Amino acid sequence: MRYETIRNLQIPKIGFGCWSIGGMSTPEPAWDQRSMTALHSALDLGYTHFDTAESYANGHSEELLGRVIREKGVRRADLFITSKVSPEHLHYDDVLKSCDNSLCRLGMDYLDLYLIHWPSHSIKLEESFKALNQLVQSGKVRFLGVSNFNLKLLKQAIVLSETPLLTNQVSFSVPDQEYVKNGVLEYCQQNEILLTAYSPVKRRNIKSNATLRKIANDRKVTPEQIALAWLVMQPRVITIPMSANPQHQAENLSAADIILNADEMEQLSASVFN
Ligand SMILES: NC(=O)c1ccc[n+]([C@@H]2O[C@H](COP(=O)([O-])OP(=O)(O)OC[C@H]3O[C@@H](n4cnc5c(N)ncnc54)[C@H](OP(=O)(O)O)[C@@H]3O)[C@@H](O)[C@H]2O)c1
Repeated sequence: MRYETIRNLQIPKIGFGCWSIGGMSTPEPAWDQRSMTALHSALDLGYTHFDTAESYANGHSEELLGRVIREKGVRRADLFITSKVSPEHLHYDDVLKSCDNSLCRLGMDYLDLYLIHWPSHSIKLEESFKALNQLVQSGKVRFLGVSNFNLKLLKQAIVLSETPLLTNQVSFSVPDQEYVKNGVLEYCQQNEILLTAYSPVKRRNIKSNATLRKIANDRKVTPEQIALAWLVMQPRVITIPMSANPQHQAENLSAADIILNADEMEQLSASVFN
């Protein structure tokens, strides 16, 4: 595994996304077994960064993640846990309550990283950051970040955060390079901020991209692995693919060890419309 070193932290280039663990927007108890098996195998394979949110399965994703971590007896200090506060909970009191609820569901006494999941159109960022800064001061959260923030909002968040903002988590993949075009990636790279790429293999069918298929074929790996390798070859970029399939989980982890050459990187960057 390769790591991104930032602010005295070593964060794995590839972590594990928990959307659809325990359900989609509502809990699906019938999925529990499959979800827990997926988390067990992710921990066995060596994933240490887990990305969840209060909105995932309406909190059930956090419950299952916490349950599996306790079952396996993994040391909390060996993990990096990210959760997110929903845009409708961005008033001061609601942020504090959301964080407490997430910690309770996870069965943990701190989060490594806490993100604003989506910007709110009606609640002032100043009010939300007042609470987020307090969570850091009280030790309930180690680092703050945002998600789905454009460049203008990201710059506002940086000013409001009393500790250096760790990440902006956005949709980023070979077929979806919106956050390159809008300047967010370059800004993150120049300002010591991680760009966490979500939906790295899901969007607009990775398998139909001719460039991905050709490079994967030449290197005898899968197009998904090349798509992940292209992301994590880029400075300050980490990613959090989700898979319930242990073989895919292992392939995704090992994608961090694929070193693409400059020509392959350029071809992939230009292959958005393939
Ligand atoms: N901040 C936000 O607003 C936001 C939005 C979306 C997602 N996220 C986060 O980002 C994480 C990842 O995004 P995502 O779940 O949308 O999309 P994703 O990880 O790009 O794609 C997940 C899908 O890809 C398949 N897959 C994964 N690895 C594969 C492989 N090696 N080969 C073939 N298929 C593979 C999975 O199926 P199998 O289970 O069959 O492998 C699953 O159907 C989420 O879980 C969540 O934590 C955040």
